[in-house]
Amino acid sequence: MARILVLYATIEGHTARIAERVAAALRSHGHRVDVLPACAEADLLGYEAVVVGASIHYGHHPASLRDLLRKNRAALAARPGAFFSVSLSAKERYLQRFLRQVGWQPQATATFAGALQYSKYGPLKRLVMRAFVTLTGRDTDMSRDYEYTDWDAVDRFSEAFARRSFADRPDSRALSSPAG
Ligand SMILES: Cc1cc2nc3c(=O)[nH]c(=O)nc-3n(C[C@H](O)[C@H](O)[C@H](O)COP(=O)(O)O)c2cc1C
Repeated sequence: MARILVLYATIEGHTARIAERVAAALRSHGHRVDVLPACAEADLLGYEAVVVGASIHYGHHPASLRDLLRKNRAALAARPGAFFSVSLSAKERYLQRFLRQVGWQPQATATFAGALQYSKYGPLKRLVMRAFVTLTGRDTDMSRDYEYTDWDAVDRFSEAFARRSFADRPDSRALSSPAG
């Protein structure tokens, strides 16, 4: 059993939901998992592995998260890590650019489609999003919210990270396949 930190940066809350789903998958493998919003006080040293998730707004992951991860680069490099990016376009290049800026090469990465939460946007954001969504071919009816996340893909990502990071450890019986 490992202590794992799942750290997330969210604006409208959807990345937090994905972080909770990742944590549930890791817990089902017997790990102790804390799920925390990314903040300057985050202490990575108390954990054996770290999963980080962040959403994209206006083409970028949050600069505050980038700075936090940079500050903790040595701790990240010393333990198994995974990063997932949440957006409407689910573009790999945003994720790769962010990791280059941080200087981190996690063992596992994924891009997940996020959500359109019109009910949470103020008037200006609704206008911006309607324009963006029209361009990208997503749903423009602002009378309801939309969720595009493939939850099975989130589970596969979490399982693969758990297997890859801990399967060869002596205390990882919960992770062994029935055959192994
Ligand atoms: C103001 C705003 C700007 C956004 N900009 C982008 C963008 O540049 N590219 C993209 O793919 N998705 C963009 N999105 C979509 C978000 O990444 C998506 O809604 C995601 O689910 C938000 O996650 P969160 O609730 O964890 O913040 C934007 C959303 C909002 C509200």
